[in-house]
Amino acid sequence: MINTLSFGAPKQIGTDIYAFKSFVNVGDGGEGHLTTNGIAARILQGLGEGDAEARVLQRDAHTSAKMLAEEEAFVESVKRGDPGVSFEIDTTTTLIRLGDGSFAVHSPSVAFTEAARAEMARALGVSVEDFEVSALIAPNLQHWLGVEGWARAFPAAMIYVAPPSHGEDLEAKLPASVDRGRVTTLQPAATPGGGCAEMLGGEVRFRLLEGAGLMLNEVAFFHPKSKSLLLADGFYPGYSPATPPNAFSRVWFKLTKGHWSGGRLPSYRTGRVEDPEALVASIEGMVEAWHPITSLVCAHGSRVPFTADTVDAVAAEHGRASAAVQRDDTAPHRAADPVGATLLDAWSVTLPEPCDEAHEKVMVPQISRYAVAHC
Ligand SMILES: [Fe+2]
Repeated sequence: MINTLSFGAPKQIGTDIYAFKSFVNVGDGGEGHLTTNGIAARILQGLGEGDAEARVLQRDAHTSAKMLAEEEAFVESVKRGDPGVSFEIDTTTTLIRLGDGSFAVHSPSVAFTEAARAEMARALGVSVEDFEVSALIAPNLQHWLGVEGWARAFPAAMIYVAPPSHGEDLEAKLPASVDRGRVTTLQPAATPGGGCAEMLGGEVRFRLLEGAGLMLNEVAFFHPKSKSLLLADGFYPGYSPATPPNAFSRVWFKLTKGHWSGGRLPSYRTGRVEDPEALVASIEGMVEAWHPITSLVCAHGSRVPFTADTVDAVAAEHGRASAAVQRDDTAPHRAADPVGATLLDAWSVTLPEPCDEAHEKVMVPQISRYAVAHC
C-alpha cells in the first residue's frame, strides 16, 4: 500500500477554486509499481555520475548545515539500503466549484479517506452531505492512482482521463472496481495543432501538451472563472526557501533539476519529450488562448499557486531580473502574462539541452516500466 498523510488546509487559488496538498510515498507502490529499491537505485545511479554527489551534498544559499546533515544522512541511509527510507513527496489536488454546486477534482490524491472527506467539506464550507463531486480528472499517465478511492466515495462522479500513449491506456489500467461507463478519455480538439476544447459545460477548458507522449501525455486545464491553469507534472515551480521540502525531495530535485528552490523542469520530464517544437507550440497556443493566466497550479512544489508575484519573488531569490522582463520579446501576452511567459520560457529554454544516454538510462526510464512513479 502507498503510505499517505492527511490533506493540509486548502489554499484558495481564486474564485471557486481551491488547492489541497497531501503527501505520497513514491517508492512503495506495490506490485507492478515503482519500488523502494527502484527509486533508491535511481538516486544512487544519479549520485554516481561524475561529481553529482559532491554537487548535491554541499552548502548553498538555501541549504543550512542542519539541512546538509539531513541530506547526508538520507543518502547514507539509501546507500545502506535501510528499510523504511521515506520517499515522500507533496502533491496537489485541486477542487473547482461548478455552477451547480458540485466539485470537479483535478489530480485526485491517493491520500483521500473518509476523514479527509469530512475535513475537506468543512474547509470548503459545505456539509459532508452536500459535498458532491461530479467530475474526477486524471490529467496524465501518472496522476490517476487516487481515482479509485474518490470514485468509490462519489459514485455519481464522471471520470475524465488523459489519452493513451506508448501502450499506457488509463481506461485499461483503472481497477476493475471503476465502472467503465463513467470513464471518458479526453481527446485533443480536432483542429490543426490540437487546439483547445471545453468540458463540464464550458466551465473548464483543456488542451493536450503535444509532442510529449512519453512525458506522461499530460492534458492542461484552464478554469476561465479564476483564470487558473492546472498542470500536474507540466511545470515545477520549486519550493520557497522559507518552507524547504523534506530531505528526499531536496536531494531528488538537486539531482534532477539543479536545485529544489528553482523553477526548472527535471531531466526526467524534459528527457521524455519526443517533439520539443510541438510541445512548445502547444504551450504557446494555450498561453495565447487563455491569456492572461493569473494563477498556475502544479503537483509538486510549495509555490502553489504560481502567480506574477511568485515570478518576482523567485527572481529576487535568485538575484536577477524576472525572465519575463529579461526577454527581448515584444509579444503582447508576455508583458501582461508573466505566469504564461515563465511557463513558456521554462520549456523553451530547457528543451534544447540534450540528455546524455547514460543519464537517460537511469533517470528517464521507459514509461511502461515506471508508469506510476510519482514525481
Ligand atoms: Fe507527479
